[in-house]
Amino acid sequence: MPKIAVLPGDGIGQEIIPEAVKVLKTVLANSPEDFEFKEYWVGGTAIDKCGKALPEETLKGCEEADAVLLGAVGGPKWDHLPAAERPETAALLGLRKGLEFYANIRPVKMLVSLIDSSTLKKEIVENVDMVVIRELTGGVYFGEKKRIDNPLSAYDMMSYSAPEIERIVRLAFEIAQNRRKKVCSVDKANVLETSRLWREIAIKVSKDFPEVELSHLYVDNAAMQLVRYPEQFDVIVTENMFGDILTDLASMLGGSIGMLSSASMNGKKGMYEPAHGSAPDIAGKNLANPLATILSAALMLRNTFGLEEEAQKIEAAVTKVLAQGYRTADLARPGDKRMGTKEMGDAVVAAL
Ligand code: NAD
Ligand code: IPM
Ligand code: MN
Repeated sequence: MPKIAVLPGDGIGQEIIPEAVKVLKTVLANSPEDFEFKEYWVGGTAIDKCGKALPEETLKGCEEADAVLLGAVGGPKWDHLPAAERPETAALLGLRKGLEFYANIRPVKMLVSLIDSSTLKKEIVENVDMVVIRELTGGVYFGEKKRIDNPLSAYDMMSYSAPEIERIVRLAFEIAQNRRKKVCSVDKANVLETSRLWREIAIKVSKDFPEVELSHLYVDNAAMQLVRYPEQFDVIVTENMFGDILTDLASMLGGSIGMLSSASMNGKKGMYEPAHGSAPDIAGKNLANPLATILSAALMLRNTFGLEEEAQKIEAAVTKVLAQGYRTADLARPGDKRMGTKEMGDAVVAAL
C-alpha cells in the first residue's frame, strides 16, 4: 500500500495541510490502490506534545513512507530554544538531512488569471515559467557553527564536496532537457571558493548535455535579473542559502508566496512542502492560501507515484478556481471574491 506521512507542523501548517489532504483523497478516490495517510507530530507542536521537534516515531514514519507531506514548522513560541532543539533546525533540516532530500524543486509560473494580482507589472510577469533547483542538504546550513565568547564572535562554515554539487547540477540539466533547454547556474564565484568549485563542476557536467545552454550569474545580479526580466530564466540551479533567498523573491513572480509549491527529492522519494513558513501573523484565522500546499501535493503524485493524470487534474482545478475569480487574502484585490483557507480547499475539491 502506498504510504504518505502527513506532518502539519506549526502555525498555518495546521490549516493548509487538511486542505491538501482533502484534495488528495478526492483525486485518489477511484484509484485502484488504497493510499495510507498517517499523521505525525513535528516542529513546535511536537515539542509541546512530547519535548522533541522531531520525535523518533515521526522520523521512522517518514523513513517508512513513500512520500512526506509537510506544512511548516517554527514560530515565536520556540525562537528562544538552542539551535539544536529549534523546530527549523531539529525538525526541518533534520528531516531533509536524515532522508537525504538533497534536491529542492520550486516551480514558478505565472497563471494567466493571476497576472493582475501580481505586485509587478503585467508585461514583466506574464511569461514567467521557470524552475529553481536548490541544493538542500549542504552549504552553510549544515557546516560547523560556533559561538565564541571572547572575543565575542560566531561562525558558520560553508562547504561543498564535488559529488554534492555534481548531483544537483546534473538534475538541473536533466530537467532542462525536457523544458526550454537553458540552465542558469547562480553562484558568488567572484568571492567564494565553494562557488568557484560549483562553477567548475557546472561546466564539467554541461559537457554531457550539449543541447542545453549553460549560463552563469552572480547571485546579486540574479536577484536583480529576476525582477528586471524574469522570462529569461528556464532552469536556475544554485546552492542552499542562495536558493532559499531567491525563491522567496521569485514567488512574487507567480503572484504570492502562497502559490509557491516545492518538492524536496531523493530519487523518487520526496518531501512535499510549500516554500513558505508557518506565517504566525495570520495563523489560526482561516486566512492562509492553501494552494502552494495543494500544488505540492500534485508534485507528489507526479514525482513519487507517477500519477501524471491525477497531478494534472489538481493543477487544472487550481487554475479553474483562480480563473473563476476566487482569491485568498494574499491574492485578493478590491472587487475579488475573497475566501478563507477552508473555502479555497473546498473550491478546489468542487472543481475536481
Ligand atoms: P513565512 O513564509 O511564514 O511568512 C512570510 C509572510 O508571508 C508573512 O506575512 C505571511 O503571512 C505570508 N505568508 C506565508 N505563507 C502564506 C500563505 N500560505 N498564505 C498567505 N500568506 C502567507 O516566513 P517568516 O514570517 O519569515 O517565518 C515564520 C516562521 O516560519 C519562522 O519560524 C520560520 O523559521 C518558519 N519557516 C518555516 C518554513 C518551513 O517549515 N518550510 C519555511 C519558512 C519559514
Ligand atoms: C524554506 C525555509 C527553511 C530554509 C527554514 C525554515 C529552515 O525558509 O524551506 O525555504 O531556509 O530552508
Ligand atoms: Mn525559505
